[in-house]
Amino acid sequence: MPGVLGIEWRRSAGVLLAFRWLMAALASLPLLLLVGDVVSGAVGPDPGQTITEALGIAAFQLLLATLAMTPLRRWTGWGGWLRVRRMLGLFAFFYAVLHVLAFLQFILGWSDLWATFTKRPYIIAGAVAFLCLVPLAATSPVSAMRRLGSYWKPLHKLIYLAVVVAWVHFLWQARSDLGEMVIYGLLLAILLGVRGYWSGWSSLVPLKKG
Ligand code: HEM
Repeated sequence: MPGVLGIEWRRSAGVLLAFRWLMAALASLPLLLLVGDVVSGAVGPDPGQTITEALGIAAFQLLLATLAMTPLRRWTGWGGWLRVRRMLGLFAFFYAVLHVLAFLQFILGWSDLWATFTKRPYIIAGAVAFLCLVPLAATSPVSAMRRLGSYWKPLHKLIYLAVVVAWVHFLWQARSDLGEMVIYGLLLAILLGVRGYWSGWSSLVPLKKG
């Protein structure tokens, strides 16, 4: 029965669909947990900061998850990982948008946005990471991919810059618990390292063809 014991199940449309739903559910979890905490009042003495932090960490984790899909595809030989990559990238952007909105709403306010975004170096780093993500989200539909043709891939290498700058932003604003940032930094180094090793280090350069 190759369909059960062999590898055929991995190509089944039902398995792929179930996997997509599972990953969508996992990616939605940080928001659901956060809403649960807000509703039950478990957001600590400074809810604005707790909410901003939770959304920032979710955006960062989802960027790492997006980057992990290609290595997982290569290590397991299963194409399903690549079928959820774009969705995870869009979830990362979604959380990044909510993070910036929470920052404006709860921390620095909506007046004089230029002064707000240039106030501290770590905020500038966050804004740079966010600006890198905007064109990626805008050009994620298949129609945009077709229109951009051979420019699509170099453009989407901006994700490497975005995630490195987001990590710097993360590290810069930390007041304590540097261990967490170090672990995230190691994970990021591994994900970028395997890609550089497999495809050549120049493949990590944003906007560069090839
Ligand atoms: C305009 C863009 C951004 C602004 C203004 C911004 C602002 C902030 C602020 C104010 C904090 C500290 C919250 C606090 O503890 O008081 C923070 C933390 C953080 N941000 Fe951002 N951010 C931006 C973009 C991003 C992006 C694009 C990402 C990731 C993709 C990100 C990931 C994080 C992470 C991981 C933290 C740390 C959360 C924690 O301490 O657990 N930020 N950001």
